[in-house]
Amino acid sequence: MTPRAFVFDAYGTLLDVHSAVARHAPRLGGAAPAVSALWRQRQLEYSWVLSATGDYEDFAALTDRALGHALAAHGIRDATLRADLLAAYRDLDAFPDAAPALARLAARGIPTAILSNGEPAMLGAAVAASGLRLDAVLSVHALRRYKPHAQVYRLATDRFACQPHEVAFVSANAWDAFGAARFGFRVSWLNRAGAPAEYWLDALATTIPSLDSLS
Ligand code: LAC
Repeated sequence: MTPRAFVFDAYGTLLDVHSAVARHAPRLGGAAPAVSALWRQRQLEYSWVLSATGDYEDFAALTDRALGHALAAHGIRDATLRADLLAAYRDLDAFPDAAPALARLAARGIPTAILSNGEPAMLGAAVAASGLRLDAVLSVHALRRYKPHAQVYRLATDRFACQPHEVAFVSANAWDAFGAARFGFRVSWLNRAGAPAEYWLDALATTIPSLDSLS
């Protein structure tokens, strides 16, 4: 059965979160990969912890906080670099397979959307800068809740007026793929790095090595 819509995670799936640090890597020296990894890890952790405590701060603020921590953890106190890295996050590179995959779906007449933790302004800026074309960009922001809460995935079924099993969902984030599968989406876990399966995804999702495999 052809899905009613293809719904994509944004950060890490269509947009390369490590492209911000990559752009300024010479200014970070050997710490660049570790800073980028810690930045991403803390950004996500803060979102999960706020969800667990019932609190909320938007994803742009969490991204800034997480960057501050990652730089401080590596003894980097360059305010201009921090500002440049944060600005780069609004202008991330799209993965090279993203635009062709979206174009193939559009050619088949299948609607596409992003469903992201991103706060609408940061998400809108990043999508515009990437040149990616989608039918909808859905943000968790109005719900003041982050993935993988079930309410968040319902934004997609509400938008396309369909049942969860009619949505094809694609995420490179294993925990997000798990949340989407538990909600009832048909999930493709995008495993670009060939990482070991986790979050029960070997049973709950189809694993794909790149967006070229989407059909
Ligand atoms: C997103 C993050 C979680 O785009 O990657 O929702």
